[in-house]
Amino acid sequence: MSSNSHRMFSEQSSVETANPFLRGRRAVLASLLLSGLPLTVRGQTAPAPVLGTPGKDAGWIPTPAPMVEGMLRMAGVSKNDLVVDLGSGDGRIPIFAAKAFGARGLGIELNRDMVAYSVESANKEGVGDRARFVQGDIFEVDFSQGTVLSLFMPPQVNARLMPKILAMKPGTRVVSYVFAMEDWEPDEWVFFDNVQGMLWVVPARFEGNWRILTEGPDPATYEVTLTQRFQKINGHFMFGTAKLPLFDANVLADRLRFTLVVGQRRFDFIGNHKGDALEGTLHVTGEPQRRWSATRS
Ligand SMILES: C[S@@+](CC[C@H](N)C(=O)[O-])C[C@H]1O[C@@H](n2cnc3c(N)ncnc32)[C@H](O)[C@@H]1O
Repeated sequence: MSSNSHRMFSEQSSVETANPFLRGRRAVLASLLLSGLPLTVRGQTAPAPVLGTPGKDAGWIPTPAPMVEGMLRMAGVSKNDLVVDLGSGDGRIPIFAAKAFGARGLGIELNRDMVAYSVESANKEGVGDRARFVQGDIFEVDFSQGTVLSLFMPPQVNARLMPKILAMKPGTRVVSYVFAMEDWEPDEWVFFDNVQGMLWVVPARFEGNWRILTEGPDPATYEVTLTQRFQKINGHFMFGTAKLPLFDANVLADRLRFTLVVGQRRFDFIGNHKGDALEGTLHVTGEPQRRWSATRS
């Protein structure tokens, strides 16, 4: 992810989140997702997709090209990624991911003509080997190997996909044009033409009771209890008999951090999920950094 590209993109795209026109525009986009307007995009041997062609869970409306680029940049797509577009329409997202970032792309699309069109476009663009398309239902085709997912689906479809998405490898990036993921707060936003794209990073699961062991000259054990809602962490830390609140507690992918204040000293814990355990570093004000590990108790 790049906050720089986020900023650059936002500046070029005149951001206005509270604009009443935006709400009207969103409503039009939402209704177009379910019924249609004819618009031929460009001629190819396979029939060109027609704007508003109805589909099982959404009709075809493409994500605008600058937003495709903005969202994939926001997700930090690289050649190591498999970018999966759920409901891939004319194939523009997997094709762009392959062409611009050298990534592998996979489009899952129910409409056979659109799949044929996408395959043809990928070949024309010279990325037929890296951008593949599968004709199938996004609720049936396995996309668990994806490292980046993209969506332009109505909110209720996003909601149905969420359990599968949250079970993906921590660190998987999810981008959605226009529509949110229930109450899962986006990690980052991008705007084009007053409409938002959002990014979420799949978090590892840190919830539970952990026994922490700190290393160094005076090793010690502590108990910490964590509750988790997506990337938000709460909980408390037992320091002797004192029950301390966690400050600045958050998760990004498989990384956890939180801070304690004990008297005059500040304790900064940073750790990573490693199998069933946590491992990381502890920095205490005025002391050398030490390592810590934790197991669920
Ligand atoms: C709004 S369009 C988005 C197209 C593309 N992702 C983009 O952003 O340009 C939604 C697409 O999902 C496809 N679709 C709808 N329901 C589907 C399903 N259950 N499985 C696979 N594709 C589906 C539609 O045919 C349509 O092409």
